[in-house]
Amino acid sequence: MRTQVAIVGGGPAGLLLSHLLHLQGIDSVVLERRSQEYVQQRVRAGVLEQGTVDLLREVGVGERMLREGDRHEGVHLQFDDERLHIPFTELTGRAITVYGQQEVVKDLNERRRADGGQVLFEVDDVAVHDVTTESPSVTFTHDGVAQVLHADFVAGCDGFHGVCRDVIPPDVRRVYERVYPFGWLGILAEVAPSTDELIYANNGRGFALHSMRSATISRFYLQCEPDEPLTNWPDERIWDELHARLAVPGWKLNEGPIIDRSVTAMRSFVAEPLRHGRLFLAGDSAHIVPPTGAKGLNLAVADVDRLAEALVDHYRTGSDTGLDEYSAKCLERVWRVQHFSWWMTSMTHRFEGPDQEFERRLQRSQFDYLRSSKAAATTLAENYVGMPLR
Ligand code: FAD
Ligand code: DHB
Repeated sequence: MRTQVAIVGGGPAGLLLSHLLHLQGIDSVVLERRSQEYVQQRVRAGVLEQGTVDLLREVGVGERMLREGDRHEGVHLQFDDERLHIPFTELTGRAITVYGQQEVVKDLNERRRADGGQVLFEVDDVAVHDVTTESPSVTFTHDGVAQVLHADFVAGCDGFHGVCRDVIPPDVRRVYERVYPFGWLGILAEVAPSTDELIYANNGRGFALHSMRSATISRFYLQCEPDEPLTNWPDERIWDELHARLAVPGWKLNEGPIIDRSVTAMRSFVAEPLRHGRLFLAGDSAHIVPPTGAKGLNLAVADVDRLAEALVDHYRTGSDTGLDEYSAKCLERVWRVQHFSWWMTSMTHRFEGPDQEFERRLQRSQFDYLRSSKAAATTLAENYVGMPLR
């Protein structure tokens, strides 16, 4: 088999890259380890930056997102029982859209299928070869048959647990990492959201987040132990904690049946550089952020937007400037987003330790500063809605 760009991983990064390349007449094959049903059901992120929304719309995969997604012009921050509204649009002229990641993945898969794109699901034993030569390849098995995909370039869009990052030799790659001493329990509940906009709450019992997916589905997160077994969290405990952590006088939390739950560990991670020869990493394969800034998916989109443009330049004009600058340009945004995600996490979570009261006073001071200073609120707002893609 031969293609121009072999794409490992059919998450948002891989599928969007394949679509963007197709629009410019560049051929690609996406190799995805899981089944289509699995990737479309996996509940993950829900917040799309303005730049992500604009891009998805411009490239013709935003129709359902614009119809079913929910545009939010601000967010609520809470410290104990005090709530503060940050008006994004008033401060920045921009907004976010709440639309589930699995819906973005469904829309992209549907569009790839309609355009005759090649997305192979349930592939195994993916291995990447010869990326420092002019003719790299990817070997894999599909339906029990061993295959070779020859390509001009390989895009490693295979997430944090993928195989592409390890193709970059240890003496070339540098890894920067911070692991947090807590995780997030995420749940979906069949109940109307109790709020118009997201609520990020810092409570003495730990962090809580109230988000939503639709008029009838709410999404919640609770700070928990990292890798905590779900059996520690029966429904009653989940609702008790949500009530306790999100409470403000005069506000009521609606309860409903819990239809999905999972625990996510929290880490900040960057592997540099994002390029080795003809291999380019994009999305979670190269970097992970703690989810507090709602950035993971948006950062993956920013990477592939840049990668697609660089590949188009290569094929159209023969210029490799975009490919040569890919890693450095992406890393500028990656580190801005790393800082914001770390900052949102430090400001809103319970940290245990001998100086935890000191930490909490710092958090309180930051919260008060956001309330009293338009400059501070604007800093949060412009990072949350996202910097322009390019
Ligand atoms: P992924 O979505 O991980 O896609 C990579 C794809 O590659 C997957 O489909 C995988 O099956 C496939 N793959 C992996 N290995 C191979 C292989 N060897 N061969 C072929 N295919 C392979 N972000 C937020 O902002 N908010 C959240 O609440 C949030 N929750 C998350 C919960 C979890 C459990 C995880 C893992 C991530 C979460 N994120 C969240 C982050 C966000 O979902 C990611 O940043 C986003 O999915 C990145 O997209 P991606 O395409 O780079 O990677
Ligand atoms: C959601 C996830 C996040 O990580 C976040 O910061 C905000 C919202 C969500 O899944 O809705």
